[in-house]
Amino acid sequence: MTDRTSERAPDETPKLKEYEGEGITVTFEPRRCLHAAECVHGLPEVFDLSRRPWVLPDAAEAGLVAEVVRRCPSGALQYHPADGSVEHPDSPTSVRRTPSGQLVMRGDLLVSGAYGDRHETRVMLCGCGASGNRPYCDHSGPCAEPDDDVPEAR
Ligand code: SF4
Ligand code: FES
Repeated sequence: MTDRTSERAPDETPKLKEYEGEGITVTFEPRRCLHAAECVHGLPEVFDLSRRPWVLPDAAEAGLVAEVVRRCPSGALQYHPADGSVEHPDSPTSVRRTPSGQLVMRGDLLVSGAYGDRHETRVMLCGCGASGNRPYCDHSGPCAEPDDDVPEAR
Protein backbone atom coordinates (compact mmCIF):
# COMPACT_ATOMS: atom_id res chain seq x y z
CA MET A 1 0.00 0.00 0.00
CA THR A 2 1.28 3.48 -0.86
CA ASP A 3 1.93 6.02 1.90
CA ARG A 4 0.76 9.12 0.10
CA THR A 5 1.87 11.41 2.93
CA SER A 6 5.50 10.72 1.98
CA GLU A 7 5.08 11.58 -1.68
CA ARG A 8 7.21 14.43 -3.01
CA ALA A 9 5.50 17.58 -4.23
CA PRO A 10 6.26 18.44 -7.84
CA ASP A 11 8.81 21.17 -8.68
CA GLU A 12 7.25 21.53 -12.10
CA THR A 13 4.50 20.05 -14.21
CA PRO A 14 5.22 17.69 -17.10
CA LYS A 15 4.20 19.07 -20.47
CA LEU A 16 1.36 16.95 -21.81
CA LYS A 17 -0.60 17.21 -25.01
CA GLU A 18 -4.21 16.12 -24.73
CA TYR A 19 -6.31 14.61 -27.48
CA GLU A 20 -9.92 14.45 -26.40
CA GLY A 21 -12.34 12.00 -27.97
CA GLU A 22 -15.90 11.04 -27.20
CA GLY A 23 -15.06 7.60 -25.84
CA ILE A 24 -11.51 8.11 -24.70
CA THR A 25 -8.95 10.88 -24.21
CA VAL A 26 -5.29 10.24 -24.98
CA THR A 27 -2.44 12.26 -23.49
CA PHE A 28 1.09 12.45 -24.85
CA GLU A 29 4.25 13.52 -23.01
CA PRO A 30 6.67 14.25 -25.86
CA ARG A 31 9.87 14.19 -23.78
CA ARG A 32 9.26 10.55 -22.88
CA CYS A 33 8.58 9.25 -26.37
CA LEU A 34 11.45 6.96 -27.41
CA HIS A 35 10.22 4.15 -29.49
CA ALA A 36 8.77 4.85 -32.93
CA ALA A 37 6.75 1.70 -33.26
CA GLU A 38 3.95 0.51 -31.07
CA CYS A 39 1.40 3.29 -31.49
CA VAL A 40 1.81 4.04 -35.19
CA HIS A 41 2.05 0.37 -36.12
CA GLY A 42 -0.73 -0.69 -33.76
CA LEU A 43 -3.43 1.73 -34.92
CA PRO A 44 -2.25 3.87 -37.85
CA GLU A 45 -5.72 5.37 -38.26
CA VAL A 46 -5.43 6.84 -34.75
CA PHE A 47 -1.69 7.55 -34.51
CA ASP A 48 -0.23 9.17 -37.62
CA LEU A 49 2.91 11.28 -37.33
CA SER A 50 2.34 12.87 -40.73
CA ARG A 51 -0.99 14.36 -39.64
CA ARG A 52 -1.99 17.21 -37.33
CA PRO A 53 -3.29 16.40 -34.83
CA TRP A 54 -1.28 13.21 -34.92
CA VAL A 55 -3.69 11.46 -32.51
CA LEU A 56 -7.38 11.02 -33.43
CA PRO A 57 -8.85 9.08 -30.47
CA ASP A 58 -12.26 8.62 -32.12
CA ALA A 59 -10.82 6.97 -35.25
CA ALA A 60 -11.08 3.54 -33.58
CA GLU A 61 -13.10 1.88 -30.85
CA ALA A 62 -12.07 3.19 -27.41
CA GLY A 63 -11.08 -0.26 -26.11
CA LEU A 64 -8.74 -0.75 -29.05
CA VAL A 65 -7.16 2.66 -28.50
CA ALA A 66 -6.58 1.79 -24.85
CA GLU A 67 -5.04 -1.54 -25.77
CA VAL A 68 -2.54 0.08 -28.13
CA VAL A 69 -1.70 2.86 -25.66
CA ARG A 70 -0.88 0.17 -23.09
CA ARG A 71 1.78 -1.10 -25.49
CA CYS A 72 3.64 2.24 -25.27
CA PRO A 73 6.70 1.15 -23.27
CA SER A 74 7.83 4.60 -22.19
CA GLY A 75 4.50 5.75 -20.78
CA ALA A 76 4.59 8.77 -23.11
CA LEU A 77 1.04 7.82 -24.05
CA GLN A 78 -1.70 7.53 -21.44
CA TYR A 79 -5.45 7.14 -21.79
CA HIS A 80 -8.54 8.18 -19.90
CA PRO A 81 -11.77 6.45 -20.94
CA ALA A 82 -14.97 8.48 -20.78
CA ASP A 83 -16.46 5.84 -18.44
CA GLY A 84 -13.90 6.78 -15.76
CA SER A 85 -12.12 3.43 -15.76
CA VAL A 86 -8.36 3.37 -15.20
CA GLU A 87 -5.43 1.36 -16.48
CA HIS A 88 -4.62 -1.62 -14.29
CA PRO A 89 -0.88 -2.05 -13.74
CA ASP A 90 0.78 -5.28 -14.83
CA SER A 91 1.27 -7.82 -12.08
CA PRO A 92 3.82 -8.94 -11.22
CA THR A 93 5.88 -5.82 -11.85
CA SER A 94 8.58 -6.45 -14.41
CA VAL A 95 11.99 -4.82 -14.89
CA ARG A 96 14.22 -5.36 -17.89
CA ARG A 97 17.58 -3.74 -18.63
CA THR A 98 18.48 -3.01 -22.25
CA PRO A 99 22.10 -3.46 -23.43
CA SER A 100 22.81 0.28 -23.03
CA GLY A 101 21.34 0.47 -19.55
CA GLN A 102 17.75 1.65 -19.89
CA LEU A 103 15.40 0.17 -17.33
CA VAL A 104 12.12 -0.87 -18.89
CA MET A 105 9.52 -1.30 -16.17
CA ARG A 106 5.83 -2.21 -16.06
CA GLY A 107 3.73 -2.50 -12.94
CA ASP A 108 2.43 -0.51 -9.99
CA LEU A 109 5.18 2.12 -9.86
CA LEU A 110 5.89 5.32 -7.93
CA VAL A 111 8.54 7.28 -9.82
CA SER A 112 10.31 10.17 -8.06
CA GLY A 113 11.84 13.06 -9.99
CA ALA A 114 11.49 16.70 -10.95
CA TYR A 115 7.76 16.24 -11.25
CA GLY A 116 7.41 14.90 -7.72
CA ASP A 117 6.22 11.35 -7.13
CA ARG A 118 4.18 10.02 -10.02
CA HIS A 119 2.11 6.87 -10.10
CA GLU A 120 3.05 5.08 -13.28
CA THR A 121 2.28 1.80 -14.98
CA ARG A 122 4.89 1.89 -17.79
CA VAL A 123 8.27 3.65 -17.78
CA MET A 124 11.66 3.57 -19.41
CA LEU A 125 14.19 4.96 -16.95
CA CYS A 126 17.70 6.26 -17.68
CA GLY A 127 20.44 3.97 -16.45
CA CYS A 128 23.41 5.84 -17.93
CA GLY A 129 23.02 9.27 -16.29
CA ALA A 130 23.03 11.22 -19.56
CA SER A 131 19.33 11.94 -19.80
CA GLY A 132 18.16 15.53 -19.61
CA ASN A 133 14.80 14.28 -18.39
CA ARG A 134 15.89 12.00 -15.52
CA PRO A 135 14.73 9.68 -14.18
CA TYR A 136 13.21 9.01 -17.61
CA CYS A 137 15.41 8.06 -20.54
CA ASP A 138 15.50 10.65 -23.34
CA HIS A 139 17.89 8.92 -25.75
CA SER A 140 20.78 11.25 -24.86
CA GLY A 141 23.10 8.36 -24.06
CA PRO A 142 24.29 5.17 -25.77
CA CYS A 143 20.66 4.06 -25.92
CA ALA A 144 20.28 6.34 -28.94
CA GLU A 145 21.83 3.61 -31.09
CA PRO A 146 19.22 2.31 -33.54
CA ASP A 147 17.11 -0.53 -32.20
CA ASP A 148 18.74 -0.60 -28.78
CA ASP A 149 15.38 -0.41 -27.02
CA VAL A 150 13.45 -2.51 -29.52
CA PRO A 151 12.81 -5.87 -27.87
CA GLU A 152 12.69 -7.77 -31.16
CA ALA A 153 16.23 -6.64 -31.91
CA ARG A 154 17.68 -8.61 -29.04
S1 SF4 B 1 4.54 3.78 -28.53
FE1 SF4 B 1 5.01 5.41 -27.03
S2 SF4 B 1 7.23 5.60 -27.02
FE2 SF4 B 1 6.63 4.47 -28.90
S3 SF4 B 1 6.42 6.06 -30.53
FE3 SF4 B 1 4.41 5.75 -29.60
S4 SF4 B 1 4.31 7.31 -28.00
FE4 SF4 B 1 6.45 7.08 -28.51
S1 FES C 1 19.74 5.28 -20.71
FE1 FES C 1 18.85 6.53 -22.29
S2 FES C 1 19.65 8.53 -21.79
FE2 FES C 1 20.48 7.25 -20.25
